[in-house]
Amino acid sequence: MKGRCLAAAALLICGTQAADADESRTRPPEEGYVLHCSGCHGLSGEGVPGTTPTLHGISRLASTPAGRAYLASVPGVAQAPIGDAELARLLNWVLKTFSDATPVPPYSAIEIGTFRREPLRSTGAARAALAVP
Ligand code: HEC
Repeated sequence: MKGRCLAAAALLICGTQAADADESRTRPPEEGYVLHCSGCHGLSGEGVPGTTPTLHGISRLASTPAGRAYLASVPGVAQAPIGDAELARLLNWVLKTFSDATPVPPYSAIEIGTFRREPLRSTGAARAALAVP
């Protein structure tokens, strides 16, 4: 009897964990932003003068191939602890919400997966090379 109770308890706990994992795969981008980005960039993407750039207006960077790659490979984006598909949705949402423009075409999971494999080490130099204010 005791063994059966333990097995039932284990099932319950494991079942709950599986449900949580599923939930994170379908987490809305606005929640992902709060969890993974807002601590540095602020709840409204306003940034912190002198330390963290604003996310307002960054869609102008997404209009060139180099800019698209840059946005997806800055360390805070590339190393976010979420999968490629969730990160693609999150970045598309950030661009639309804080910068008023969904990138064309929107980031795909495959594109994000390629860019994030090599996070930028020298962010300042990469940003300057884009020559976009
Ligand atoms: C630990 C703090 C931190 C976190 C967390 C963080 N970032 Fe950043 N982010 C920065 C800093 C600092 C920079 C400036 C470049 C650098 O030094 O990496 C930056 C740069 C950027 C840029 C480039 C902006 C520009 O104008 O050059 C984008 C876009 C961006 N972050 C988006 C995000 C998103 C989306 C997330 C969440 C998935 C995120 N960041 C998480 C600190 C952070």
